[in-house]
Amino acid sequence: MPTLQITRRSDVLPPEEMAALGPTIAAIEKLKKERNAVILAHNYMTPDIYHTVADLTGDSLALARMATEATADVIVMAGVHFMAETAKMLNPQKTVLIPDLRAGCSLSEGITGADVRKLKEQHPGVPVVTYVNTSAEVKAESDICCTSGNAKEVVESLGVDKIIFTPDQYLGRWVASQTDVEVILWEGSCMVHERFTGEEIRRHRAGYDDIKVIAHPECPPDVLAEADFVGSTFGMQKWVTENQPQQVMMITECSMSDNVTAYAPETDFIRPCNLCPHMKRITLDNIRTSLEKMQYRVEIHPDVMERARRAVERMLEVKRI
Ligand code: 13P
Ligand code: SF4
Repeated sequence: MPTLQITRRSDVLPPEEMAALGPTIAAIEKLKKERNAVILAHNYMTPDIYHTVADLTGDSLALARMATEATADVIVMAGVHFMAETAKMLNPQKTVLIPDLRAGCSLSEGITGADVRKLKEQHPGVPVVTYVNTSAEVKAESDICCTSGNAKEVVESLGVDKIIFTPDQYLGRWVASQTDVEVILWEGSCMVHERFTGEEIRRHRAGYDDIKVIAHPECPPDVLAEADFVGSTFGMQKWVTENQPQQVMMITECSMSDNVTAYAPETDFIRPCNLCPHMKRITLDNIRTSLEKMQYRVEIHPDVMERARRAVERMLEVKRI
C-alpha cells in the first residue's frame, strides 16, 4: 500500500493563494488534532485540498484500502458519497463524515438494488461484478465490487466464463475488450467522461507532434481507441510520473492535471477536461465546517451493511496489478 501514495506538495499553489488560504488550512489542521481525524482525498479534489489538508490521496481503490488501515477516530472523505459509504462499511465503529451530502455520482444514481435483483432473475447463476461507484444497497445485491484500477483482475478472479457488470457500460466494455470473459452490461455512464469524443481528442492531438493521450476507462470506446494508456486516476498519475512525457492530455476530470503537474514539472499539460459537479461540492470551507460540526455523518442501513461489506472485502482480497 505505501507505493500508492505520492507525497503532496503545498508549493504547487502560488504563494499569494497559500497566504489567503492559510487561516482556513490552520483551522482544519487544528480541528484534525482535536477530533483525531484523518482526511482522505480523491485525486479529483482541487489542489487547495489535495496538496494541503489531505492526509492521504488516491483513487477509489486506494481510498478503500486506506480506510481499512485508518487508526483515527474520524474519517473525513474529501470525495463523493459512495466513497464515504465504502469507508463507513469498512469501519462501522468509526465516524465517517462527508462535507456535503450533495456530492453524489451519476453512475451511483443510475441503478438501484431492485435493478440488480431483476438482472439476476434474467441471468440466473451469473455472478454480478459491481463498480464501487454505487450505493450500499446495490453493492449488497452484488457478488463482488471492483474499481477502475482492478476491474479486469476482479472479473478474472471469479474463474467463470460469463459475468454481469454494473453500472458503467464503458468500463464494462473496456474490461470485455481485455478479457475472454463474456460481459453482460448495464447501460449506466459517468456524466463527466461520457462527454468526451474520439473526434475531439483527434482534433486536440493534431496541434502537437508528440503528445501522449491517457484516458480513464469510464470514457466511451472511441476515446479509449485514441489513448496511449488507459487506467484509473492512480494509474494515470503513475504513468505520467514514471514517463515524464513532454506533452500530455489527461482525458478525465479537470483537477487531475492540476494535481499531477506537481509530479511532472517539465510536462506540458493540454487540458480538454470536464468538471465533475459532485466532486466540486467539496471545498476547504465545508471540510472545516464538517470538522467543526461533525457533519454529515454517513450511516448505512443495517439491512444492507453486511452484504455490501462482503462485496467490497472480496474485492480487496484480489491483488492489484
Ligand atoms: P478512480 O477509482 O479511477 O479514482 O475513479 C473514480 C471516479 O469517480 C472516476 O470518475
Ligand atoms: Fe461519478 Fe463521474 Fe463524478 Fe466520478 S467523475 S464521481 S464517476 S459523476
